[in-house]
Amino acid sequence: MKMIIAILSAAILASALSACAGDEVKLQLRPSQIMMQARKAWMMAMFENLGAKNFIAVARDADELAAQTRKAGEKSLNPLGKELTLAISSLAGDISAAAARQDGDTAKAKLGEIGGKCGECHASIRDKK
Ligand code: HEC
Repeated sequence: MKMIIAILSAAILASALSACAGDEVKLQLRPSQIMMQARKAWMMAMFENLGAKNFIAVARDADELAAQTRKAGEKSLNPLGKELTLAISSLAGDISAAAARQDGDTAKAKLGEIGGKCGECHASIRDKK
């Protein structure tokens, strides 16, 4: 009896572990997802830091977003995708400059414009696939 219980619990443990391994594979993000999640994190952080008037942090995240989207935009083969991504880079550069002169209103307006570009690409490229 003890033997049967031991075998059964070993089997249950093994299946539980293999289920976990399956999840890990599924949870691995594609490079495009890692890139997009970084964009989202910078956008949210900039929004919060503008509210808190933490302009140094805003400028830092804007610079990161500008650099990442410049690189991605330059490599992009899709003309609309390229245009939108480079526009985001340029707007992020504007946010960095606005943050440097503590101009929160301009930075907020540019942040809104960036959000529009993200949405435009998601609607016209990402969600059309
Ligand atoms: C050139 C087109 C394009 C632009 C511009 C763009 N995205 Fe994306 N986005 C995509 C595509 C395509 C996917 C799907 C990626 C995938 O699933 O591999 C995606 C997916 C995402 C996701 C989901 C990632 C996940 O975990 O599956 C988030 C969040 C996101 N984008 C945020 C943003 C933000 C924020 C911006 C603007 C700063 C932005 N995106 C700009 C094309 C774009």
